[in-house]
Amino acid sequence: MIYYTLQNGDKIPALGLGTWKSAPGEVEQAVFSAIEMGYRHIDCAWIYGNEKEIGSAISRCIKNGIVKREELWITSKLWNEFHQPEAVETTLTESLKNLQLDYLDLYLIHWPVAIKKGAPRPWSASDFIPLEELPLINTWRAMEELVDAKLVKHIGVSNFSIEKLKGLKSEAKYPIATNQIEAHPYLQQPKMLKYCRENNISITGYSPLGSGDRPESFKKKDEPSLLLDPVLLDIANSHKTSVAQIILTWSIQRGTIVIPKSVNLIRMKENLESTSLLLSKEEMMSISKLDKNRRFFDGKVWAVKGGPYTISELWN
Ligand code: A2P
Repeated sequence: MIYYTLQNGDKIPALGLGTWKSAPGEVEQAVFSAIEMGYRHIDCAWIYGNEKEIGSAISRCIKNGIVKREELWITSKLWNEFHQPEAVETTLTESLKNLQLDYLDLYLIHWPVAIKKGAPRPWSASDFIPLEELPLINTWRAMEELVDAKLVKHIGVSNFSIEKLKGLKSEAKYPIATNQIEAHPYLQQPKMLKYCRENNISITGYSPLGSGDRPESFKKKDEPSLLLDPVLLDIANSHKTSVAQIILTWSIQRGTIVIPKSVNLIRMKENLESTSLLLSKEEMMSISKLDKNRRFFDGKVWAVKGGPYTISELWN
């Protein structure tokens, strides 16, 4: 496994297992097998609704002597309905209980979007809380208290624009350990990479494989298929490997953490093995030319008509 060193010297595994869309009923076995085959980083979130099963798998691995708690890196995320400072610790405690852990390695603000607690879906304009009313720094202060209480080792954010990172950084007491963002050859985010590198913020790339199993409502008709990209296929053929492995190797070689989701043992192994591949400078160059600035998750779900959030403000 390849590790990156964070600001305080702690090491995070460069490749982790994504668990969004991993269904209860299959995620427990997937996580157990992942840890057994050498995964040391599991990416979770309250909203995925499967932390209980993930917790059972982690606990079983520790009890069976497959791994020690301190060898694992477990991330979870604070959902949009719990940005109110007084809700932060309660929500974390629920995740910890479900995950059967007494601390998290990393806790993230899932989206820079606040929603009223318990608001039923589909959300309407009045279900959202404007950031002017509930500023991100208020939520962040409550996250910092979790560090002081030793309930989480690191805190970070997800889906934050450079402007939002700048704003938060200027007021934060503790460093922003990571910004977890969508990242893959069709959405390379070079400006974000540069900003984060210069400011010691690691980047975790989600949906590295194009997230083909996301709900149909999140898909568009004209979507390009990342796993069938001819340039990536050529490179994969010359290494006698798969496009998925090429994408994951590329992600790590450019210095980002990557969290491919799989519940399939063969694909999980394939993804893990991508940490031992090496791409040439020329191959890295030809992948960098594939950037289309194409988001598979454009955040439209937050840009409800008449509501306080807009797409341009989200990614500003
Ligand atoms: P599965 O869970 O059946 O393996 P992303 O990480 O971008 O969200 O992508 C997840 C999707 O990619 C899932 O549908 C997952 O299916 C699939 N997937 C994961 N690993 C691979 C792989 N090595 N090759 C092809 N598809 C993969």
